[in-house]
Amino acid sequence: MSDAGNRPIRKRFAEGTTADDLKAYMAPFVATLGYKFNTEDDFVGEVLSSELEILEQTGDVFCPCRIRTGDPKEDAKIVCPCIPFYLKQFAAMRKCWCGLFIRIDVEDGAELIGVIEEPESGVPIDVPVCRVGDLADGQVRHVKIGKQDIALTRIGGEYFALSNICRHAFGPLADGVLDGYYLMCPWHGWRYDVRDGTTDHPDADVKTYHAHASDGEVLITLTV
Ligand code: SF4
Ligand code: FES
Repeated sequence: MSDAGNRPIRKRFAEGTTADDLKAYMAPFVATLGYKFNTEDDFVGEVLSSELEILEQTGDVFCPCRIRTGDPKEDAKIVCPCIPFYLKQFAAMRKCWCGLFIRIDVEDGAELIGVIEEPESGVPIDVPVCRVGDLADGQVRHVKIGKQDIALTRIGGEYFALSNICRHAFGPLADGVLDGYYLMCPWHGWRYDVRDGTTDHPDADVKTYHAHASDGEVLITLTV
């Protein structure tokens, strides 16, 4: 994938933008479409803080619950608020995919928080997650792509990606220690083979993803 796919689509928000700035910008716009912020303030705060992280990384407020493709045209459809692109779907659900926005007539948005899975088209896409120089051999890095929580590592120049969530008690595997091809959970030491996600514990393997380097970037393949 070229660098062009990784460039921000546009820059609308200055450095130092806060959640309140996003709210002030978005509220009048979504109101014209018949939406408002979810009534669950804590949830709204969480989503907006994810958007601010994404803004810092990419230069725009891409949706935190969906996967960027690297194609600027496609990705323009998931800049928040993306409501104009999905009027029919959101009207039927009375919320946006993430639940950040709900229809104006919904009084209690508590049941409308959380992500609704988009139907998968089965199309694999390579998502750039960092530069090759960002990950040295033997290091592990935490990567979030939409809802996918991933531990990415490099061993002998090869890249391996697996779920970041330990199957024992949800420990963060990206904070674990590598021993050869084995990644040890930092909480209670369960070991996962980064090549295939297997562990010694029954029925506790984790998902793996294809990862590789191209044009100086590390890419993880996801199916959307
Ligand atoms: S689904 Fe909701 S939170 Fe995500 S970009 Fe669209 S409006 Fe924003
Ligand atoms: S949470 Fe990972 S070993 Fe316990």
